[in-house]
Amino acid sequence: MNRVLVLNGPNLGRLGSREPEKYGSTSWGELTEKVAAWADERHLDADVRQTDSESELVAWIHEAVDWGAHVILNPAAFTHYSYALRDACAMLGGAGLTLVEVHLTNPHAREEFRHTSVISGVAVGTIAGFGVDSYRLALDAIAQKVA
Ligand code: DQA
Repeated sequence: MNRVLVLNGPNLGRLGSREPEKYGSTSWGELTEKVAAWADERHLDADVRQTDSESELVAWIHEAVDWGAHVILNPAAFTHYSYALRDACAMLGGAGLTLVEVHLTNPHAREEFRHTSVISGVAVGTIAGFGVDSYRLALDAIAQKVA
């Protein structure tokens, strides 16, 4: 089975209670269950993780490169300024692995500082604005790529 790391950055562990008018009422626990079920349906072996730490996120990207895992990444606020995360993500493409950037909201419809993603340039594509369904669509994209 193809492995997929579904990695999430800072504050996403607070889903459900964090600004629900923007991020929705699905809790972090519920999101992990949904992603696991969606991955199963697509015959993907998904490992869903969240961290508030940039260094941990970079280490998980290194792990994906070493294991040959595809990555679905919601970099959260790191999207907008983490060159360290971008440089790590660039190694995925070099290893022939697919990176899909996801966002619950559409950052382009929000504050100006969210309009820049330093990650998009090294991702195969970005899915944003569909709430938790952004993750389902990202799993579809990976499933199609690896089919
Ligand atoms: C986010 C959008 C980012 O701008 C923000 O910092 C987040 C969540 C999203 O999923 O919509 O934490 O990545």
